[in-house]
Amino acid sequence: MASTPETKIPENENEETSVASFLNEFIINPVNLLLTLIISVLVYKIFRKFIRPQVEAPAVVLPKLRKDMTVAELRQYDGTQPDGRVLLAVNGWIFDVTRGRRFYGPGGPYAPFGGKDASRGLATFSVTLPDKEYDDLSDLNSMQMESVKEWEEQFREKYDLVGRLLKPGEEPTNYSDEEPEETDTSTGCPTEKKDL
Ligand code: HEM
Repeated sequence: MASTPETKIPENENEETSVASFLNEFIINPVNLLLTLIISVLVYKIFRKFIRPQVEAPAVVLPKLRKDMTVAELRQYDGTQPDGRVLLAVNGWIFDVTRGRRFYGPGGPYAPFGGKDASRGLATFSVTLPDKEYDDLSDLNSMQMESVKEWEEQFREKYDLVGRLLKPGEEPTNYSDEEPEETDTSTGCPTEKKDL
């Protein structure tokens, strides 16, 4: 006499019991349990950004800064000041990278660039910068200078322009008459670099 397999739901059982026994079997099966757990974790990962508060939103929006600076002045803006502002220079232009504090602020992976001229580091793939008063980048080759310009483009797209990085003895521009929204968007180097 053929016997009905244990897992088979008897045909004459009512629908409610069938569902209950199916669920019971589904959950008890270790493979199904594992799959359920994996799916739950994946679903949680996908949706957690919608249910978590935006912890990275900046607490304060700093007023826009428009100013040419010397290397010494720039150095103060490494994110350790009370307002937390972070500036850096690329190819003779200073940018406000406070929005990227997690990169350039204290403890960030690129913190050595905060308050500095990052050009050489960006061109040479090094986060360590030389302790120079003013770096004229004259020893960089044309490929490295090309890379510096590309980085400058990226910073122009992502961050606010603050002003020029002044060479020793160079006078700052007076931006007080400038329209609030006006910024210099030329990509030429402000300090007349050598031809490439
Ligand atoms: C193992 C080496 C590296 C890894 C894995 C890495 C990884 C990354 C990642 C994932 C980002 C994008 C972060 C984001 O947008 O959320 C980034 C951005 C960046 N990286 Fe790196 N990086 C490396 C090396 C370097 C080096 C050597 C430099 C320069 C010397 C550098 C400079 C930068 C800069 C300037 C940004 C842009 C940050 C911004 O958007 O303001 N990285 N890196």
